[in-house]
Amino acid sequence: MNSLQPVDLEGARLLVLTGAGVSAESGLATFRDSNGLWEQHRVEDVASPDGFVRDPALVWKFYSLRREQAKTVEPNAGHRALAEVEKRLEDRFLLVTQNVDGLHQRAGSERVIEIHGSLFRTKCSSCDLQPFDDHATYFERTLPTCDRCAGRGREALLRPDIVWFGEMLDPAHMQAIDAFMRRAAGGPFVFMAVGTSGAVWPAAGLVNLARSLGASTLLVNAEPADNTARFHRFVQARSAEALPALFGLKGVDPR
Ligand code: APR
Repeated sequence: MNSLQPVDLEGARLLVLTGAGVSAESGLATFRDSNGLWEQHRVEDVASPDGFVRDPALVWKFYSLRREQAKTVEPNAGHRALAEVEKRLEDRFLLVTQNVDGLHQRAGSERVIEIHGSLFRTKCSSCDLQPFDDHATYFERTLPTCDRCAGRGREALLRPDIVWFGEMLDPAHMQAIDAFMRRAAGGPFVFMAVGTSGAVWPAAGLVNLARSLGASTLLVNAEPADNTARFHRFVQARSAEALPALFGLKGVDPR
């Protein structure tokens, strides 16, 4: 079914998983748009622990450009619709995003789990220093190092607080998602995935857990995703147009 018939959220808990497609209409390229390449480098080669060991300056250049770019764009009507529906549902709502651009929070979303980390946090590549807010850019060969490690007589580079290819998600995030789904089980429970190709795990598998717990599942994507068949309903549409309509919101600015 491809109509924008509003989703029935009466008394329901709603878990929404978002991906790069939601930010596409703000002007940020999706992973797939760029064929997985950045300046001739495979994204896996700049977004991986091995890539950082091989060429940390290249990795910092990649993320510095993304920090700069994310600051120049604005949340779109899709982000705003999600913030609006959260105001209505309060703690019956959870947003799980694979995006690292901070646009959901800038649109007003508060119950957000950033499972792939944040562009605007930095952490140590060696010790368990608490990740900290960081909007700085590093285009020079001189890269930031960890003061905590220096105090222990070691030199360690700082790195973006991003979950790279080959790295595990934060177990506390997975526990929080699991706990929300288990609270939702048995009652009206809606799971939506929006703007995500369904190619990257474990995010792509959340629909399976939601279904096993009785959720009604909906995919909103510009194209079929790798896991479209797992959803009860697929709406093929742009998220900035579809989300306000699916949530029955009239007041969301469509820009
Ligand atoms: N509205 C809805 N969907 C859209 C739109 C739009 N305006 N524009 C693009 N899309 C869809 C594309 O059709 C594609 O299926 O969004 C999807 C984006 O897919 P990917 O680029 O693979 O992004 P995502 O699924 O978020 O990638 C997952 O992979 O790059 C790594 O860790 C990174 O978090 C990222 C993860």
